[in-house]
Amino acid sequence: MQPIMTTILAIESSCDDTSAAVLRDDCLLSNVIASQKVHEQYGGVVPELASRAHQQNIIPVVDAAIRQAGIGKEDIDAVGFTRGPGLLGSLLVGVSFAKSFATALGVPLIEVNHLQAHVLSHFIQPHPLTPLRLERGADSTGNPLPSPIGEGLGVRPQFPFICLLVSGGHTQILLLRDHFDIECLGTTIDDAAGEAIDKAAKIMDLGYPGGPVIDRLAKEGDADAFHFATPHIEGYNYSFSGIKTSFLYFLRDRLKEEPDFIERHKADLCASIQKTIVSFLLKKVERAALDHHVRQVAIAGGVSANSYLRSELQRICHKHHWQALVPPFQFCTDNAAMVGIAAYFKYQRGEFADISLPPYTRSN
Ligand code: KG4
Ligand code: ZN
Repeated sequence: MQPIMTTILAIESSCDDTSAAVLRDDCLLSNVIASQKVHEQYGGVVPELASRAHQQNIIPVVDAAIRQAGIGKEDIDAVGFTRGPGLLGSLLVGVSFAKSFATALGVPLIEVNHLQAHVLSHFIQPHPLTPLRLERGADSTGNPLPSPIGEGLGVRPQFPFICLLVSGGHTQILLLRDHFDIECLGTTIDDAAGEAIDKAAKIMDLGYPGGPVIDRLAKEGDADAFHFATPHIEGYNYSFSGIKTSFLYFLRDRLKEEPDFIERHKADLCASIQKTIVSFLLKKVERAALDHHVRQVAIAGGVSANSYLRSELQRICHKHHWQALVPPFQFCTDNAAMVGIAAYFKYQRGEFADISLPPYTRSN
């Protein structure tokens, strides 16, 4: 007899990506992401425009996810959705859609915390029988993604492990003892690492979001060309606002003497600020992994797409005989597949959401 499998439709709309995914148990069948280009001209996400774009995208994105999965609506056993944290106007679109869709199908709802979803993305498995219909995509700089389902998938993390969650809104070192037994060992006391990278890019007039551009330009630069001081912060906590300010003041002084300084040293500046931020991040992650005697170290969130962070993590893990868990690119930035895997684990535990639950904008 065939084992009973669970099919979950997942929705993500917490910021500026509208995404829907279908999972059968922990295996991914489809993951459709509509990114919103409208914010680029404003140098950051405009909440009202994000909300409107989600309204336009949500139905076509869900429709595509169901079609690409090769299932019918009647096959869906539950609807998972990101309840928070995020932008209220953005969350409301996904939350309302999920509630209406689940009600119409007569299936349970599962609420998911966006940060937990980023971390749990490491548990997503490729489906052994169904050919994956994920299309080869491109990252935000236009570079093709390495494969529809990239490297790293299929290695199931073993508890306990450490995860560095690093995005435009969050920077945390987490210790996972179980899927939902997650201890925050350290966090940023001001800006997130992605925010600092985006601000450095903005100072150099590289557009928004700047992270992928810095990553690309840094490949041609000398990471030791310039030095930026990192603050001394207790324990596993971080602070990034000082790094951003020292970058700004450094450039202000140099530009006085050399007005085209940024243009002439762009690649070196990108490589140097990237190295400063990544080294600061990983120094504390390495300490946390040693102190907690783990054998696996993961990264998650938008900044985990950074090629220098990925290779440096691998180098450090190799040195200690740890396993580096590096997510495929499509699971780094916001996506519904990660919401689906978190919803699947909650489904197994029978944790369903009431239709009256409102979205929340902050973690606590
Ligand atoms: O997780 P995410 O999509 O959204 C948030 O929840 O914030 O992360 C977005 C962040 C932005 O700061 C973006 O610049 C950064 O991830 N990012 C990168 C790269 N790709 C995205 N930062 C550095 N290198 C990259 N390749
Ligand atoms: Zn995110």
